[in-house]
Amino acid sequence: MEIKTVSVGPITNFYAVVENGKTMLIDTGCYLNQPGWTLKTVMSGIDLSTVSLIVLTHGHMDHAGGIHHAKTITGAPVMAHPGCETFLNTGKFTWYIPRNELGQAFYDNIAAPAPVDVPEPVAIDIPVTEETDLHPYGFSGKVILTPGHTLDAISVVMDSGECFVGDTVLDPFGEGICTFAVLSLDNEALKESGQKLLDAGLKCAYSGHGGPFTRAQVEEAFFNLKDHNG
Ligand SMILES: [Fe+2]
Repeated sequence: MEIKTVSVGPITNFYAVVENGKTMLIDTGCYLNQPGWTLKTVMSGIDLSTVSLIVLTHGHMDHAGGIHHAKTITGAPVMAHPGCETFLNTGKFTWYIPRNELGQAFYDNIAAPAPVDVPEPVAIDIPVTEETDLHPYGFSGKVILTPGHTLDAISVVMDSGECFVGDTVLDPFGEGICTFAVLSLDNEALKESGQKLLDAGLKCAYSGHGGPFTRAQVEEAFFNLKDHNG
């Protein structure tokens, strides 16, 4: 298994997992309405003809904004929680809620989440509402539900312990910290999701922003989340 990180802008990532000649995209980045944005330019070195599955960690523009483009050029089915549908159909997404001071600082520093220009609605081909085995799709892992940051958040957990966590764990400012989502729609669900990721055997967390993070970093972040809302 090979993991390729694709960076979009300074601290936003999406990923390609290559296994036995097949490629799974985990998120698709965002073209932010820039006409020149293409997967081919940001994913040099990845054979797009081998992409057989696209998993969206959640329906936020910086993770799923490029989905129409990605689906069009790869033809791969889209796996996502049904809660992504609103974004995929309209470009609108759930308003962020800062969870703590860091979240407020992050919130104050990002642009208002205006709807993205979705060229055409994109259907979810494989809706995920429960833990889902990826072996039938050719990848040695599973998808688990990890709500909190958003209610449609899912994570990919490989059998080897590599986890793709979207914004459930992140470095919000690219300053080398590791924290659980600083913008959250359900703090209790976020805590449960953190426990679930650790229980699933997380060894390394590949995040939508910053990272990757070691298990020790995620454990410390989880301790801070549980005990200090940090
Ligand atoms: Fe997000």
